[in-house]
Amino acid sequence: MVKISIGVLCLILAVIFGNAMVVSGESDDESISVPLGVIHLGPPEDVEAKQPSVPFPHGTHFVYTCNTCHHQWEMDGPIENCTTSGCHDGVESPIKAGGGKVDEDELIAYYKTAYHKMCISCHREIKAQNESLEKSGRVLKDRLPNAGPSSCKGCHLPEE
Ligand code: HEC
Ligand code: HEC
Ligand code: HEC
Repeated sequence: MVKISIGVLCLILAVIFGNAMVVSGESDDESISVPLGVIHLGPPEDVEAKQPSVPFPHGTHFVYTCNTCHHQWEMDGPIENCTTSGCHDGVESPIKAGGGKVDEDELIAYYKTAYHKMCISCHREIKAQNESLEKSGRVLKDRLPNAGPSSCKGCHLPEE
């Protein structure tokens, strides 16, 4: 196998695919630039990160429809950030703030809960399906699908 550094690989991929694809709308204002590679997800500006940021391979997830995640987007117009959209702009855990009482709406407005709920649930669900298929003893024709990480370090990649 040819050994190739990640940097060089990214460079090649960037040359081949470009870093983003542009989806055009009817006027220039409506065009959006869709990042195809890795988006580094970190906490909102005023929050001090306890965990390393999460390199999120956006394009790898395009087997799902866009509004699986961009649930406010109606396949038209600009896409807003998760943490500035008014959806998940909470910066503090309502569990800590409310002394144990939890309001569901406040909970999902907290960006960390929103991300964890969406990202981890989907990966876990696939993992669980894989495990039950393995346990079923059925002869599997195809390799089981990759589930995506569900461990802390699998997403919050320790910095090198
Ligand atoms: C598995 C979830 C997921 C899927 C599916 C997904 N995205 Fe994203 N996308 C994200 C996340 C998370 C971000 C980062 C948002 C942020 O920084 O707040 C993002 C960012 C973006 C951005 C940049 C937004 C900005 O403000 O810079 C655009 C544009 C975008 N996505 C378009 C799309 C399109 C078009 C599709 C469908 C082909 C799609 N996304 C599918 C999760 C997803
Ligand atoms: C609806 C399901 C779904 C959601 C939501 C989702 N993922 Fe994934 N994710 C997957 C699947 C499936 C894979 C495996 C893809 C593959 O290897 O082809 C994956 C793979 C990954 C990988 C590993 C990629 C690799 O190269 O091995 C990372 C990291 C990841 N996801 C992060 C995230 C983060 C962060 C979020 C939330 C912003 C998220 N995912 C949301 C389904 C999902
Ligand atoms: C599927 C991916 C995924 C997994 C697994 C995951 N996280 Fe996260 N986590 C995220 C994303 C995305 C964010 C929002 C971006 C950010 O703040 O880093 C986040 C945010 C956080 C935050 C708030 C931001 C910060 O740095 O203080 C903490 C704390 C955190 N995660 C801890 C954990 C712990 C502990 C685990 C394991 C029990 C874990 N996460 C597992 C994706 C994941």
